[in-house]
Amino acid sequence: MSDSAIRLLGISGSLRRDSYSTAVLRTLIEKAAPAIEITEAPLHAIPLYNQDEDGERMPTTVRQFKQAIAECQGLVIVSPEYNHGISGVLKNALDWASRPAFASPIMGKVVVLMTCSPGFLGGVRAQAQLHLTVTSMLAHVATHPQVVIGAAASKMKDGRLTDQASLDVAMAALQAGAAEIRLRRRGPTGSSP
Ligand SMILES: Cc1cc2nc3c(=O)[nH]c(=O)nc-3n(C[C@H](O)[C@H](O)[C@H](O)COP(=O)(O)O)c2cc1C
Repeated sequence: MSDSAIRLLGISGSLRRDSYSTAVLRTLIEKAAPAIEITEAPLHAIPLYNQDEDGERMPTTVRQFKQAIAECQGLVIVSPEYNHGISGVLKNALDWASRPAFASPIMGKVVVLMTCSPGFLGGVRAQAQLHLTVTSMLAHVATHPQVVIGAAASKMKDGRLTDQASLDVAMAALQAGAAEIRLRRRGPTGSSP
């Protein structure tokens, strides 16, 4: 990894083996390197949120997940749409990541959001909900371009996104997120490292 590479944590909101969301994420991991290094953070081992187990006694898998968020420069989240919202799996993981409130590892991070669905609307309603959820954690959403991939079944092959137009928009969103991170790293005066 080069020193100037942007380090993102990649999250797919689906546990499904042949998930389109995961396919999009894995395509981006391959296409964005080496300028943008994306590390996938699978959610399979994240238990259901329980406030009794939060804090000092949090489960090891949650601690590792939050550590990965703390160490990255930004996140890219690709979510399916379930009943016009994000998956429970993703919401659950974000709830863990959101604590302690106003001092969580996700606070202040640049987050690139994408949704994906076999339906025509590409999960646009889930994306609106996801936007609301991550901004409530004081994360910074890179809002343009917004990536919604509809008719996903026809745009994937062998676990990868093959539709060039969708890939172009997704890559543009990653670049916008990376630019935002570089801007924030420089600071308002442009003088910080
Ligand atoms: C419980 C459930 C609810 C769903 N609700 C929606 C929905 O509201 N909108 C939509 O576009 N697709 C919906 N779908 C279809 C999913 O978009 C589709 O299963 C998709 O492939 C899931 O994402 P994945 O491929 O990343 O696993 C739903 C699927 C499930 C299992």
